[in-house]
Amino acid sequence: MSTGLSAGQRTQFTSALDLLASKLLEDEARIGITFPYVTEPSGAWALMPASVSAGYSDTGWSHGNWFCGFWVGLLVAAGLHTRSDAYFGLARERMRLVTQRTDDPNTHDIGFIFESSALRLLHATGDLAQADIAMTAAQRLRARTIVTARGAYLSSWGPLDDARARAASAIDTMTNLPLLYWAAGHSGDESFLLAAEAHAKTTRAGMVRDDWSTWHAVEYDTRSGARRRGYTFQGYADESHWSRGQGWAILGFAATAAATGNADYIDIAAHLFDAYRRCLGDNPIPPWDFDDPRGAAAPRDSSAGAVVANGLLRMADLTPDAAQAARWRGFALTTLEALCREALATDPRHRGLLRHGVYSMPQGIGTDSAVLFGDYFFTTALMRVLYPGAFVAADQKLS
Ligand code: GLY
Repeated sequence: MSTGLSAGQRTQFTSALDLLASKLLEDEARIGITFPYVTEPSGAWALMPASVSAGYSDTGWSHGNWFCGFWVGLLVAAGLHTRSDAYFGLARERMRLVTQRTDDPNTHDIGFIFESSALRLLHATGDLAQADIAMTAAQRLRARTIVTARGAYLSSWGPLDDARARAASAIDTMTNLPLLYWAAGHSGDESFLLAAEAHAKTTRAGMVRDDWSTWHAVEYDTRSGARRRGYTFQGYADESHWSRGQGWAILGFAATAAATGNADYIDIAAHLFDAYRRCLGDNPIPPWDFDDPRGAAAPRDSSAGAVVANGLLRMADLTPDAAQAARWRGFALTTLEALCREALATDPRHRGLLRHGVYSMPQGIGTDSAVLFGDYFFTTALMRVLYPGAFVAADQKLS
């Protein structure tokens, strides 16, 4: 199949996946039953068991292990790339550890966890046991729906008997929606689609500023649906433009367009991308937050670039406008080339695939690191362009 890549891009992207495949095997021999999440300054992975759930401690919020599914997804991608069954065997073993999170009642992140693991295994191998696992998680995620007078949204963080949790919604949730979209198609139960699309509509109304930048988090009035305040947990400031959050929104609205067949959501993703592009300058790898006062000297977040590249590739596949598709795909490929050139972790002391990601600057976790979601979304974008349809379903053009 023609993938429309230049020979140079094909070589560069293939080498990145080769590197991933060899590092995964090396790390599998070292990590026991724990999962990598960010690299330490030494380059070694910091590790945590899959079982660590999210929760409040006093006023702080801990995300827990929302990374574990990404490791499974990376193993599946490596299996497809190398055509070696060894990776699928490892992925299935890892799923035994990840599956315990299907009933986690504390977090929207079960969307990330099971879309990147069970659904990748299902898609690549046809193993229907993975569909059952993903359906259980999707029911948990749908149960986070909060219905207000203005519409519904998914609560992001915390147990639902906690008033703080019921009121909280984060921009990251937009990229947890694909699990619900898949569940609707798989089960024929449209309530998964209704919940996810309602969340997307509420996010458009409540989390996007007039200049099309996004708040990281919003506290809603759970009765009226009015926004009480916009704030940040991982960005520079409550009113700042956090680049990865913008990426989650772009990718989530592209996924919503694909699931609903409604091109209006591509227009929303396009406006969000234009706002991101305007802030970017010449380097396609964004600063971690566009409002960091260090400006061009602010640390970059490679993971944000990888997330946005996925959004653009989906938008390009979905839009019937050929010229627009070429621009979006072109920018996605430029971003992937820059990531290969400037962020690939070729030094064996540095674990992970992509250096220079930022997990959480305010909390001081993984501030210039490989971050597992960055590796996953980078790999997903590479798989989209090198092996269309093999790792993630290809999008059909909307009319
Ligand atoms: N909590 C999702 C993120 O770090 O982007």
